[in-house]
Amino acid sequence: MRRYLLSACILGLLAGSALAERPRDLPEISAERLEQAIRSSFDYDRLPPDLKARLEQDEVQRLCSQYRNEPPADVAERIQKLSEEAVVFPSDGKFLGDWRRGEQLSLAGQGLRMRDDPRRGVGGNCYACHQMAPQEVAYGTLGPSLLQYGKIRDYDAEAIRTAYIKIYNSNATLACSTMPRYGTQKILSIEDITHILAFLFDPESPVNKE
Ligand code: HEC
Repeated sequence: MRRYLLSACILGLLAGSALAERPRDLPEISAERLEQAIRSSFDYDRLPPDLKARLEQDEVQRLCSQYRNEPPADVAERIQKLSEEAVVFPSDGKFLGDWRRGEQLSLAGQGLRMRDDPRRGVGGNCYACHQMAPQEVAYGTLGPSLLQYGKIRDYDAEAIRTAYIKIYNSNATLACSTMPRYGTQKILSIEDITHILAFLFDPESPVNKE
């Protein structure tokens, strides 16, 4: 039987990603009990359908939960393949939008919380985990620093494509990544992702200035 850890799973679902890393010595509980606990903590029966849908795990989350974010090589490969197949590229082939809008989206953390006003839009909240422009000092360190990201990579087209895939579906490059799957989970639109990519790859972006 599949087993889960309650608190880490709720956190993972809230973040729209797979389970967060967990210590090994916590008690295990059954999938049924976990499901019940999640539903009761969200007043499940009264949730509108779009919020209910967020509590359902997709195949990738299910596999990452099953293997506690440490899938064996063949499963990791399957997760990455499934995730890569889910990536949708910009229809006009243009990866780089407006870095100024990308900067705003990288800073903004609003949207998708239960009481957020949908008219305000949804931010990427990248700074929660990454350093980006040097002027911004409030950043998290869960992810690597993205300072000078484009410059270091010589603004290379292949690196831009890889970063697009990373943002669209982080599991395509690393199975059970803790970074949100922005495109697949419909957190950001394709256009939003191109603005954020410009923030990382436009030579004029503060990310690439000293
Ligand atoms: C919850 C934390 C978290 C958030 C939020 C997050 N990331 Fe990440 N990101 C990570 C982690 C952890 C890694 C490294 C592990 C991996 O590859 O998944 C990473 C890796 C990356 C990489 C690859 C870095 C490299 O070494 O080349 C890029 C690019 C990236 N993130 C961009 C973004 C952007 C842009 C956003 C916002 C739209 C964002 N991330 C939001 C956690 C996060």
